[in-house]
Amino acid sequence: MANIVEFSNDRHRMAVIGLWKEVFGYQTAHNAPSLAIDKKLAVADGLFFVALAGTEVIGTVLAGYDGHRGWLYSVAVHPAHRRHGVGAALVRRAEHALVAAGCVKINLQIIESNEGVTPFYEALGYITEPRISMGKKIDSNVPPPV
Ligand SMILES: CC(C)(COP(=O)(O)OP(=O)(O)OC[C@H]1O[C@@H](n2cnc3c(N)ncnc32)[C@H](O)[C@@H]1OP(=O)(O)O)[C@@H](O)C(=O)NCCC(=O)NCCS
Repeated sequence: MANIVEFSNDRHRMAVIGLWKEVFGYQTAHNAPSLAIDKKLAVADGLFFVALAGTEVIGTVLAGYDGHRGWLYSVAVHPAHRRHGVGAALVRRAEHALVAAGCVKINLQIIESNEGVTPFYEALGYITEPRISMGKKIDSNVPPPV
């Protein structure tokens, strides 16, 4: 079984960047893995976890708590390690930290084209809610590509 630990920039950064590129493959600048990691570390809330098999990073979850809702992001397990409970363990770890922070409700978003992942979250007690998700990019906070 995987060991779930807090993300360490020294030990896990390169592996997490590689995993996210493989699993999510985001092409947009605001989703660049290195930017996401730097922004999360700047908040220093202790809500970024990795799953380890030995010392190998095989999964991630990034959570957030704003005092009103908890959020889950970047739930990812390396394809070679799926269906062994790693994803569930990551979500449970993040939930534990959010509950400890006083959070009363946890939300997450699923990209429409990734609807097939809903049974994973349903197995963990999440339900689909009737919401329209909206967002706005703040380009001035996204560094230009190097
Ligand atoms: C979603 C993901 C994190 C699941 O990780 P995982 O380690 O394979 O999940 P688990 O083994 O903990 O699964 C727990 C339960 O969820 C359900 N489940 C998991 N993956 C599923 C799938 N592809 N289809 C249907 N049910 C699934 C099953 O009930 C499973 O229990 P079981 O294996 O005993 O049947 C992984 O498939 C992944 O990284 N997907 C790509 C990234 C992604 O879509 N992330 C979510 C973004 S919102």
